[in-house]
Amino acid sequence: MKFFGSFVMFLLFLNGFATAQTLIQDSCKKIAAKDPQIKYNFCVQSLTSDPQSKAATTVEGLLLASTKNAASKMINVKGIVVNILKNKQASKGIEGPLKDCVELYTDAIGSLNDALASAKSGDYSSANVNLSAALDAPNTCETGFKEGKHLKSPVTNENNILFQKIVIPLAFSNIV
Ligand SMILES: *[C@@H]1O[C@H](CO)[C@@H](O)[C@H](O)[C@H]1NC(C)=O
Repeated sequence: MKFFGSFVMFLLFLNGFATAQTLIQDSCKKIAAKDPQIKYNFCVQSLTSDPQSKAATTVEGLLLASTKNAASKMINVKGIVVNILKNKQASKGIEGPLKDCVELYTDAIGSLNDALASAKSGDYSSANVNLSAALDAPNTCETGFKEGKHLKSPVTNENNILFQKIVIPLAFSNIV
């Protein structure tokens, strides 16, 4: 009996695990099919490695978790740029675009926070507007380096990741 109880618990655990995995994979498949900007493998990997996304049981839950995840990545990248600006050697000649990026990130973090609040209250169209606004930040940051002098951005990779991290909740806000 004891064994049976443990076995049932084990099956329930496996089932719960499988459900969560399926939700992430199904949802990523769905949004990747609709939007060529979304990379299926990145989507699955990004959501699976985030405990809150992994624990989500609905697309609404994935929307909230992936918005939070995008915001924390944005805060992280902003910190990287702030640190580069503090380093006179690393920021030489690119102070202007770096400062613009910090400003863009600051506004975009505000947009992501607004998106989260809207999504929590079930206002998905407002969340969509705020997520769209936030999505522009990484590309506009990159453009700042290319304009005129064709300077090299030290955060191209981070901006690519950031774009992918924001386009995921944006796509979820369209299907909830
Ligand atoms: C978020 O969107 C709402 C309208 O949908 C707007 O009023 C608000 O200013 C936006 N927030 C940010 C930070 O852009």
